[in-house]
Parts: sequence; C-alpha cells; structure tokens
Amino acid sequence: MAFELPPLPYPKEALEPHISARTLEFHHGKHHQAYVTNLNNLLKDSDLAKKTLEEVIRLAWGDASKAGVFNNSAQVWNHTFFWNCMKKGGGQPSGKAADLIKADFGSLDAFKNELKNAAVTQFGSGWAWLVLDKGKLKVTKTPNAENPLVHGQTPLLTVDVWEHAYYLDYQNRRPDFVQAFMDSLLNWDFVNQNLQKAGG
Ligand code: FE2
Repeated sequence: MAFELPPLPYPKEALEPHISARTLEFHHGKHHQAYVTNLNNLLKDSDLAKKTLEEVIRLAWGDASKAGVFNNSAQVWNHTFFWNCMKKGGGQPSGKAADLIKADFGSLDAFKNELKNAAVTQFGSGWAWLVLDKGKLKVTKTPNAENPLVHGQTPLLTVDVWEHAYYLDYQNRRPDFVQAFMDSLLNWDFVNQNLQKAGG
C-alpha cells in the first residue's frame, strides 16, 4: 500500500488572509504531494513500504543510506501534522493545554515569545515545535525534515518555517508569518488532542 496525500482538513481559502489559497495550493498540492510521491518511489522495492509512516521515519533516522527516505517520510508526516495545527480563526488555549502553558512557561505571552524566537532563529529551512518532553512542555526547533519523533519527544504543535510556507504571502517576513500563525490560526483543540493521546 502506497502512502497517500491526506486532504487538507479545511477548504484552501479557510486560512485567508493570513495564509492564501494560492500558498496552500502550492504547499499542499505541490510540495506535500512531492514528498509523498518521492517516498513511494524510494520505497518501491523495499520492505519499509509495509511499515507505518512513523516506523519508516524512526528506522531511516541516522542511517546515511536512507537519508532520502528519512527526509521524504518525515516531511510527509510534518506537513500532515502542520495542517492540523491551524484552523480558521485560531483561538485561545483551553483545558489541559492552558494549564500546562501556564505551569511550564508562566504565561501565554511567554510561550508565544519562545515559539516565535525558535521559529525566527531557525537558520534556513526547518520547523519550530511545542513538544511534551518527560512530562513537561518545551519549545524546540529542527532543521530541514528532522522532527521530535526521533528525539523521543511528543509533538504537540508545529510551524513550518521553510520559505515555501510563507514566501508568496510574506516574502522575507518570517516573523510576521509566525505572529499570524500564533495569533490568528493556532488550533489549540489539536494541541489538547495530542496531549490526551500522550496521556498527558
Ligand atoms: Fe512545508
């Protein structure tokens, strides 16, 4: 069974004006699709094709002969996760997410500052994350396709800081894109779902 591109969890106009339909058309329809196509081509005659996406990511990590498999499988996973981190209108944290943000960062603003700092200082392509690490919330950043799954952390939230994520709408203004993501798009229900799955 080949891996498939999951549909966006909302219409491609849903995140406007913060992320345009045109950006999502390319980002989901071209970039995300290309990672899926590349991965399926790389795994055509491999036993890894029978594994789950998460298993492929973990098995390929750190194996230089499987760098292409790692990069494409992790990028498939990261993008599917990223789409779910956003929803029309965004919102404020509630429930467990709100409690843990306050306990581990002090305030929502302190968390936002840390996430923005990680997103803006990631040199070149990569991702900024909110993760659960040994029972505590933490902000991290990763280069290229790397993700928290290979570091034994539970991803709760991510923002894509590859230029393809924001260049059509924001050109070089990555900080403005990250601010809009946090203030107007962030899907805290998804963070709570991930906390619940982790038993946190
Ligand atoms: Fe991306």
